[in-house]
Amino acid sequence: MRILFLGDVVGRPGRVAVMEQLPTLRERYALDFVVVNGENAAGGFGITEPILNELLDAGADVVTTGNHVFDQREALVFIERHDRLLRPLNFPPGTPGKGAGLFKAKSGAEVLVINAQGRVFMADLDDPFRAVERELEACGLKSGADAILIDFHAEATSEKEALGHFVDGRATAVIGTHTHVPTADEQILNKGTAYVSDAGMCGDFDSVLGMDKEEPLQRFLTKIPSGRFSPSSGEATLCGVAIEVDDGTGLARAIAPLRLGGRLSQTEPAFFLTEV
Ligand SMILES: [Fe+2]
Ligand SMILES: [Fe+2]
Repeated sequence: MRILFLGDVVGRPGRVAVMEQLPTLRERYALDFVVVNGENAAGGFGITEPILNELLDAGADVVTTGNHVFDQREALVFIERHDRLLRPLNFPPGTPGKGAGLFKAKSGAEVLVINAQGRVFMADLDDPFRAVERELEACGLKSGADAILIDFHAEATSEKEALGHFVDGRATAVIGTHTHVPTADEQILNKGTAYVSDAGMCGDFDSVLGMDKEEPLQRFLTKIPSGRFSPSSGEATLCGVAIEVDDGTGLARAIAPLRLGGRLSQTEPAFFLTEV
C-alpha cells in the first residue's frame, strides 16, 4: 500500500498547492491513502467547512489537525458531522470531534489514523502516550487495522522520537507535524515503524512558519504586536512524506520525503516512481 502524508497546510498558498498537485500525485504515484494536516488551512488559523471539503475533494482521505483545530469557532460544530476530520485525541473529555478513526483505503485496506498532540512547550493536555496506547489496544496492527498512521502534532523533537519508539513495531508510521519545517531524519525504526520528526508544511517558505515575515520579526524585535499574522502569499512548497507499507505485516517498507514547488529543494519518493 502506498500512503502520502502532507504536513500543515498554511493559508491559500498551501491550499492551492494541495488542490493543484494532489489529484495528479494520486494518479502518478498510484496512492492508496492520503492524509493532510489542515490545522492552518484557513488564513493560517484553523479550518472552515468549505476548506475541509476542498482538501477532501482534492484527494485527502483524512484531514488531521492540532493545536489550531478550533481557531475557526465553527469547527466546534461542523467537526461533529465530518468523520474524516480529526482533532488531537488527548484533548479533554467532552471536546467535540474525535481523535482517531478507521478508514478504507483505495486498495480496500482498513487504515487507522490517530491524531495526538504533544505536551512539551504546548498546552497541558492528557498524556498522549497513554491515549495512543488505548487506541492501539482497541485496534491493533493486523488484529484491527491493516495500517496505522499516527500524526503526532508536537513541538519537541524529543517527545516525537520517544513516541516513535513507544509504538515501534505496533504502528505503520509516526509522522510529526506542527513545527512546519521538514526534518531530514526519516527512517524505519528497529521494529518496522516509519518515523519522521516533522513532515514540513505546505506553505510559502519565504516566511516565518508560513506567515508573512514582517509581523513575526517586529514582535521579536519589539515585543509589541503591531498587526495580525497573515499567511505569506508566495508559491508554497508541498511538503510531506511517502510511505510504502508491507501489506503482509502492516509495517513500513520505506519512507521518503516529498517536496514540490516553491523555494525548498525538490525531492520525490523514488519508490513511488516505479510501476506498481
Ligand atoms: Fe501548524
Ligand atoms: Fe500546530
